[in-house]
Amino acid sequence: MGESTAFRSVHFQGHSVVLLDQTRLPEAVVFIELHTIEDVYQAIREMRVRGAPAIGIAAAYGLWLGMRGQPGAADLDAALDRHVRYLANARPTAVNLEWALQRMRRNWMATHGQERSVRFAALIEEARAIEQEDEVANRVIGEHLADLIKEGMGILTHCNAGALATSRYGTALAGFYVAKERGVNFRVFADETRPVLQGARLTAWELMHAGVDVTLICDNMAAAVMSQGKVQAVMVGADRIATNGDVANKIGTHGVAVLARHFGIPVYVAAPTSTVDLGIADGTLIPIEERKAEEVVVFNGRRVAPEDVNVYNPAFDVTPHQLITAIVTENGVFYPPIDLRQVLVG
Ligand code: MRU
Repeated sequence: MGESTAFRSVHFQGHSVVLLDQTRLPEAVVFIELHTIEDVYQAIREMRVRGAPAIGIAAAYGLWLGMRGQPGAADLDAALDRHVRYLANARPTAVNLEWALQRMRRNWMATHGQERSVRFAALIEEARAIEQEDEVANRVIGEHLADLIKEGMGILTHCNAGALATSRYGTALAGFYVAKERGVNFRVFADETRPVLQGARLTAWELMHAGVDVTLICDNMAAAVMSQGKVQAVMVGADRIATNGDVANKIGTHGVAVLARHFGIPVYVAAPTSTVDLGIADGTLIPIEERKAEEVVVFNGRRVAPEDVNVYNPAFDVTPHQLITAIVTENGVFYPPIDLRQVLVG
């Protein structure tokens, strides 16, 4: 895969977390260094790092920073639990955050009784493993998706499920990188993805840098583009997949899936197995983050709605499993009827 996916949106260097600040794109490529757990919490909340797998990785490293900043060793286990709860609260919808933190917690508990330095070393190794395993999973997801991308196809994507949102390569966008490497000609339509514009600011930037043919459209243009026969598949990521296959993803994904069904276009949801939540029966139980009104009423620094207007700003929606053609993970491509337990083991 090309150099363009070689950047790391979240990484650990020395004793700090290094983030490619996604709030600054596309105008500026700025890396920031975070030294405390509070820094990491804020960066996740402010979406300097965003995308389900990326926030899980950042939180894992953030947890280590929190433990390292622990002055006395009075009750390290209680401190760890406190830090886990704190970070898990940063954003509620993407299960990868909680998944990564619980995995870190299990690692910590497994080293009980060992020297502090040994426990700390094991903990940071676990965070590194979470990052590395995500990269491997994404590459495999990319191979599976690329098998679905045929010569001349148009593919619509929503939000940013790319290298920026993960350790590397992305989930839904990984297939584009592999297909390009294979020499397939295809075209991507990127929804701008109001209100935070992940499609315009991030997906367009990332794909252009990789030399992928990408065309930006406003969210409300998807039906027109589909009706013109320009889209043969929809490929999106996920923030949480419930046991029945319902998928939480960026607000607007559900609408895209409804349109795709109308036009007979397949919808593929790509995610690593860390996004599957067998603790939740169906999509109605997925917690949906609501974000501040400012994201909707202020556009490019300018107020675009009356003062005091009522605003509803859910950051995610749930696409019912009936609208999804297949779920693509590192374990394969799963068509209905999907047994999520099978998705986890491959
Ligand atoms: O609010 P965001 O930008 O974190 O939302 C991100 C998405 O909805 C992505 O599609 C999802 O996390 C998959 S990222 C591989």
